[in-house]
Amino acid sequence: MNRSIQTVEDVLTLLDALFEERADRWTDRGGAAWWDRFYADRGRGVPFFADAPEESLVGWVDAGDLPVGPGTRVLELGCGPGRNAVWLARRGAHVDALDLSEEALAWGRERAAEAGVDVRFVRSDIFAWSGGEEPYDLVLDSGCFHHLPPHRRISYRALLERSVRPGGSFALTCFAAGAMGCEDPDEALYRDGGLGGGLAYSAQELRATFGWLTEIELRRMRAQPEGSGLFGEPFLWTGLFRR
Ligand SMILES: C[S@@+](CC[C@H](N)C(=O)[O-])C[C@H]1O[C@@H](n2cnc3c(N)ncnc32)[C@H](O)[C@@H]1O
Repeated sequence: MNRSIQTVEDVLTLLDALFEERADRWTDRGGAAWWDRFYADRGRGVPFFADAPEESLVGWVDAGDLPVGPGTRVLELGCGPGRNAVWLARRGAHVDALDLSEEALAWGRERAAEAGVDVRFVRSDIFAWSGGEEPYDLVLDSGCFHHLPPHRRISYRALLERSVRPGGSFALTCFAAGAMGCEDPDEALYRDGGLGGGLAYSAQELRATFGWLTEIELRRMRAQPEGSGLFGEPFLWTGLFRR
């Protein structure tokens, strides 16, 4: 059908397709195939390949700002090889962990088996997920949001609205403008094509996007000493919000 646009979702899907075309052509961070290639060599020194949970996540849980224990329901968006998902499962949480990349999920399943915990790793686009029987206590995103094209911020808000229970939490880690990521304005991304390896956000931009939630903390991640067992990179924002 040549005249396929009837709904907002049709427009969003069309824009996705345009970005994905670019992703293949320019090897930008795009679809599942790109991410499968990215994870194929586990020996590369990619910081988040380390099996270490975020310093912020661990800090919030330890401080009691983020209650996690037996029965806590967690949804992780773009879980990669599952370092946060497995840590949360060790605390007793039921974790649904979504990612586009089967390579990443296979690695995550191995880590969960080694740790002796159950994590429901699912190959799914975050926007296609409908398996959560009820809203979650915590929705967590470390490094997925900044790889979404601008128009998908609309879908992302709808996803949080249906996935975070009232009183539940949303934890986000993403590129900090001035330190990492592409700073081109949204409009330029559509004109020039691609996401430049991931979008940089200022604190003001994050507050504009997530201001409908209550901010508990938004700060730069803290670098961690060797051997701490925690992940922390100062070029990232880390934030905790309450619905
Ligand atoms: C920078 S990696 C971070 C992985 C993991 N959260 C971590 O910190 O170790 C971003 C992940 O998001 C996934 N991803 C990107 N867009 C996605 C989408 N629309 N649906 C599901 N996963 C997605 C990628 O496959 C990739 O594994």
